[in-house]
Amino acid sequence: MTIAVTGATGQLGRLVVDRLKREVAPEDIVAFARDPAKAADLGVAVRAADYARPETLDAALAGVDTLLLISSSEVGQRVAQHLNVIEAAQRAGVERIAYTSLLRADTSPLALGEEHCRTEEALRASGIPHTLLRNGWYTENYTAAIPGALAAGAFVGSAGEGRIAAATREDYAEAAVAVLTGDGHAGRVYELAGDEAWTLADLAAEVSRQTGRDIPYRDLPEAEYAAALESAGLPAPFAKLLANSDVGASQGGLFDDGRQLSALIGRPTTSLRDSVRAALAG
Ligand SMILES: NC(=O)c1ccc[n+]([C@@H]2O[C@H](COP(=O)([O-])OP(=O)(O)OC[C@H]3O[C@@H](n4cnc5c(N)ncnc54)[C@H](OP(=O)(O)O)[C@@H]3O)[C@@H](O)[C@H]2O)c1
Repeated sequence: MTIAVTGATGQLGRLVVDRLKREVAPEDIVAFARDPAKAADLGVAVRAADYARPETLDAALAGVDTLLLISSSEVGQRVAQHLNVIEAAQRAGVERIAYTSLLRADTSPLALGEEHCRTEEALRASGIPHTLLRNGWYTENYTAAIPGALAAGAFVGSAGEGRIAAATREDYAEAAVAVLTGDGHAGRVYELAGDEAWTLADLAAEVSRQTGRDIPYRDLPEAEYAAALESAGLPAPFAKLLANSDVGASQGGLFDDGRQLSALIGRPTTSLRDSVRAALAG
């Protein structure tokens, strides 16, 4: 059985390929990359595949049985790109697709939900047996902000008192591998989130505890937070999207207590304490 992983050069994709190699023979794994040279170190066969160029997808998908479609990072172009992959998978006779969606994509208050929802609809319409891995937020989205918060003396955001059940990319990668290599996952929708839910004030308190410094959390109005992100160097549309996602979190959009992620991976998800410790260790 040949398992292909798209986005294999990305942070999640690399972890998936690495964990997959522990479960199946490397000869049964194919990594898809826009630029194959970037995936040369993965230790599996690499095929050129660009979501925006359907002709590359037909060639890449030849002989693939199971496909992990890792959502594109090109926000705004994702529906067309994902449709290209799904249509090519139909032509190639792919037997099963797992897709990395967003936690409760169909009812999410996050603007990001729309492209995922439309991709999920396309998967349903394709008739290909599929599994929806509705991933919650990566803990790394927040731990990446620790150096900046330490420099500025505070965390900022717009998530208010929203509780966020984040998990690490590694946790989500293991879940993807469990679904790719296990039986009985076709037709399932997994709402994947961390066992522990915390507010951004909890994150600030944990960083304060571990560093011995007083790093508070300051909640900002959405527009002010977007402006702060933009002045820190983020492109305006991305800054707006992140601020919108924080507001979605304040409305409970990133909270979940179903523990489906830890059930899939057979262990508790990585704790906030351990994630902060790892981030501070560099
Ligand atoms: N749950 C969350 O908190 C969260 C946060 C951020 C993103 N995401 C979503 O989860 C996905 C995986 O996360 P990540 O951290 O691994 O993101 P990442 O490190 O940015 O990786 C994105 C991957 O998508 C590939 N890609 C982008 N456009 C492509 C195209 N046109 N054709 C083929 N491949 C393309 C990139 O290839 P190149 O190496 O060629 O650029 C890369 O391999 C993201 O793409 C995004 O959809 C989720």
